[in-house]
Amino acid sequence: MTDFFQSRQLSVKLGRIILKNPVITCSGTFASGLEYNEFYDISILGAVTTKSMSLERLHGNPPPRIYETASGMLNSIGLQNEGIDCFLENELPFLVKTGAAVIVSIFGEDTQEFNKIARRIKSYEKEIIAVELNLSCPNVKKGGMAFCALPDEIYRIVSQTREILKTGIIAKLSSNFNNIPDAAAKAAKGGADAVSIINTIAATAFDINTFKPRLGNITGGLSGPAIKPIALLKVYELAKENIIPVIGMGGIMNWEDAIEFIIAGACAVGIGTANFINPDCGRLIIDGINDYMRKRNINDINILKGIVFKNYGAII
Ligand SMILES: Cc1cc2nc3c(=O)[nH]c(=O)nc-3n(C[C@H](O)[C@H](O)[C@H](O)COP(=O)(O)O)c2cc1C
Repeated sequence: MTDFFQSRQLSVKLGRIILKNPVITCSGTFASGLEYNEFYDISILGAVTTKSMSLERLHGNPPPRIYETASGMLNSIGLQNEGIDCFLENELPFLVKTGAAVIVSIFGEDTQEFNKIARRIKSYEKEIIAVELNLSCPNVKKGGMAFCALPDEIYRIVSQTREILKTGIIAKLSSNFNNIPDAAAKAAKGGADAVSIINTIAATAFDINTFKPRLGNITGGLSGPAIKPIALLKVYELAKENIIPVIGMGGIMNWEDAIEFIIAGACAVGIGTANFINPDCGRLIIDGINDYMRKRNINDINILKGIVFKNYGAII
């Protein structure tokens, strides 16, 4: 009985970013958040991350853009969005009204474009808790080159954003290069509060009857349960280096997956593809974490963070 009323500490701190609980939504999988507010009160989430926004409107890739695979999905949306100004003027005010903590995801074609977007955000800084720099998507205009996955470029983009903005900065790193600890160190040096890993993994599929690719863009990104063990390994490997707080994402479908990422070292977790399967899953995951903590008499979520490597050291 006493235990029932005992308050559990779900709040987590990632540099200057304080979340009421560790559950946030992944960029591009929760629209602007407003649509999901019809399913549950999105202000209960640790934060809502918006779709990645560019300086100008982008039309995205040719269809088909989505293809379901075994235990996952391929997408090649191509970062379609209406541009940062349209979001700031037309959607952000409504999102703020819901009471949700907002992380605005942005991406630029080069460092200058990241800077220009950051300057647009400057006057809205008080309404958001962080910007997430999408440093993990192939450059759409420049033939798919991932310029922003290079550690020196990461340092440049993060440090210049830090000069413009006082709000939290999250660097979303690519999992398609074997440089996550290097890239994370550069992001930390540049002034980022946290990194989020992983984005989708480059992948494709073909139709054996038509001989056509399943995606209009031929290649896309794989997400969902299929990538969870890979994401967990990346989170574990980075978190045990203790370079910068890590937001873990990739195939989290339920509260058990969320806890698994936290014990592997994530400070917070991102819910992506799961939103397409059950729009209510953010709420269910928060409830599940709460229940798990109550049953095990765990009063503070932070006790669980990285418990795997704290207990067993390097297990690989
Ligand atoms: C349809 C779709 C659109 C996405 N759009 C973005 C995006 O705009 N920006 C971004 O940083 N990541 C984007 N992502 C990647 C997710 O934010 C997330 O990192 C990835 O899907 C792994 O998590 P999951 O397996 O739980 O979906 C997108 C993923 C999907 C499936």
